[in-house]
Amino acid sequence: MTRLTFENVWVRYGSGRSSHDAVRGVDLVVPDGRLVGLVGESGSGKSTLARAAVGLQEPSRGRILVDDVDVVGARGKTAAVRRQVQMVFQDANSSLNPRMSIGASIEEAFVVRGAGGGRAGRRAEVATLLELVELDPARAGDLPSQLSGGQRQRVSIARALAAEPRILLADEITSALDVSVQGTVLNLLMRVQRELDLTVLFISHNLAVVRQLCDDVAVMKDGEIVEVGPAASVIDDPQHPYTQELIAAIPRVGTPLFDRGAHR
Ligand SMILES: Nc1ncnc2c1ncn2[C@@H]1O[C@H](COP(=O)(O)OP(=O)(O)OP(=O)(O)O)[C@@H](O)[C@H]1O
Ligand SMILES: [Mg+2]
Repeated sequence: MTRLTFENVWVRYGSGRSSHDAVRGVDLVVPDGRLVGLVGESGSGKSTLARAAVGLQEPSRGRILVDDVDVVGARGKTAAVRRQVQMVFQDANSSLNPRMSIGASIEEAFVVRGAGGGRAGRRAEVATLLELVELDPARAGDLPSQLSGGQRQRVSIARALAAEPRILLADEITSALDVSVQGTVLNLLMRVQRELDLTVLFISHNLAVVRQLCDDVAVMKDGEIVEVGPAASVIDDPQHPYTQELIAAIPRVGTPLFDRGAHR
């Protein structure tokens, strides 16, 4: 199990007069094997913070620790530590090459990891990963376009898991999907999290889902974390005026998308 810690993290886009600090002094701990939700209005810096943890955007200040290893600017051995952090994006199309079979896309991810095992070994590993995300291994040769949106998102999850992460950053992974399949993808995430003992940062606009799924929640506004605490207490009894506003803005949600009780 692995802990992810953000320490006074700042992320700046641009330079000089046109620069903009999208993340401003974030301190946040995602403890071992826990699910932490990250919520906040559009543009508050949630994706930027997650991108910094996987090295897609280097912070201008601060430290990002995987257990006790600072992965900011990671090279060599430290880069291998950072590969323990993997991200799944909202749009599966952005992480899958449309011209590459889904099996090849998954294989590419564990070749990056440096996995050996020869061709047959890699094929077997692709099959295992496809089964893990409840896809028929016989579909390894399919192109992304032959899959439904929900299936493509499962492939993105398999691709992230191919790197053998200890920490998964899930950035709005169901918001591009039909409501009818959102629940199944969330159920899958929960099962995989439990089976592989993953530490998860779960970014979402759906507070009802965060309330059900996450242990803790952090609320982000204009690049800063304004409130953090157990998901149920923050969402049921928000202390910060911004969180209160955020919650007041959502319509009451009736039937839960999925049943967390089935997983814990
Ligand atoms: N590549 C970029 N270059 C310049 N500015 C950017 C870039 N990406 C994001 N920003 C800006 O940084 C701020 C934070 O954006 P970010 O995408 O992290 O927000 P978010 O909370 O993930 O929003 P959403 O809920 O819409 O996904 C916004 O003001 C955005 O316009
Ligand atoms: Mg975002």
